[in-house]
Amino acid sequence: MPEPFHPFEAGGEDPLDPDRQVTDSEVEASLRPRNLDEFVGQVRVREQLELVLAGAKLRGTTPDHVLLAGPPGLGKTSLAMIIAAELDASIRLTSGPALERAGDLAAMLSNLVEGDVLFIDEIHRIARPAEEMLYLAMEDFRVDVVVGKGPGATSIPLDIAPFTLVGATTRSGQLTSPLRDRFGFTAHMEFYAPEELARVITRSARILGVDLRPDGAKEIARRSRGTPRIANRLLRRVRDFAQVRADGAVDVHVARAALAVYDVDELGLDRLDRAVLGSLCRTFGGGPVGLTTLAVAVGEEPSTVEEVCEPFLVRLGMLARTPRGRVATPAAWEHLGLTPGPGTRGVVTEHDPGLFDG
Ligand SMILES: Nc1ncnc2c1ncn2[C@@H]1O[C@H](COP(=O)(O)OP(=O)(O)O)[C@@H](O)[C@H]1O
Ligand SMILES: [Mg+2]
Repeated sequence: MPEPFHPFEAGGEDPLDPDRQVTDSEVEASLRPRNLDEFVGQVRVREQLELVLAGAKLRGTTPDHVLLAGPPGLGKTSLAMIIAAELDASIRLTSGPALERAGDLAAMLSNLVEGDVLFIDEIHRIARPAEEMLYLAMEDFRVDVVVGKGPGATSIPLDIAPFTLVGATTRSGQLTSPLRDRFGFTAHMEFYAPEELARVITRSARILGVDLRPDGAKEIARRSRGTPRIANRLLRRVRDFAQVRADGAVDVHVARAALAVYDVDELGLDRLDRAVLGSLCRTFGGGPVGLTTLAVAVGEEPSTVEEVCEPFLVRLGMLARTPRGRVATPAAWEHLGLTPGPGTRGVVTEHDPGLFDG
């Protein structure tokens, strides 16, 4: 059996070095699946992607540009790296916010080698001039570099190597349609089933050397908001608890006790999720209430509430987005142990047509 990989030994650095801090992102990198076989779940996306990649390989061309859409922590960055690995290509990483000026993107594009994968994370946040440059690059593998200013300005076309753009976004709805149309394939990432998350953390436990029992894995998986990143994070927190307060083994009892300490409830809702629901029901009588108002009430950025909290609450059927604002469903009231007052505006039946078209 191979030695369990220990993150403190990564890169051969001195584990006793006080300056050395193993960050979350480093542990995360060590837990990333390396190829499609190690990538758990997302059966549909995986099959679609396998076809896209195999077809391109058969024809000896670069595959179509790929857009990965879905909430944080579902495996978009991992999948981008896997696409490059499956193509035996190298990957260049950047992000929308980093591409403020078109020149930044032009530099990146002109350095690409044929077959490279260019990964742009948070692509919905790309600045307008860079986005416009990207259209031509994606379509014709060309950029127009503008030289000079005013009436004397000329644009010089520059060929770039055929490449595959992989974009990731938590807000595909915010992408302009010209940009969205230039992706040949969009993968919609879905929340994971508890059994899938149990497989993810069982593998992670092996890599981290954690004694994770099947009932412990099941309990953590069930409470991880359908999200591998959260499952891996909870595994590490439960490991701390198991080592400090128990004998190191993670079974269902240790997992339950640890998750209570970290404020993760029965359904996996964390503090912020519960704050959003609580505020929606207690302060706003169940809604409808606008996103910004709701975000201010819980002291968070509207984008965090919208991109991190809401997708899971919607998926649990606790919150609905309606044209008039956010609404708590009966399941939310019930989960909070509250009874909606008579005539509460937010409580609507499943047949209310206003509820589902938001
Ligand atoms: N399908 C999967 N199988 C196994 N582990 C996964 C999977 N998806 C995500 N992970 C784990 O979750 C972590 C976060 O995934 P990441 O690709 O960074 O998500 P995103 O980019 O969508 O926010 C990764 O480090 C990896 O360990
Ligand atoms: Mg990512």
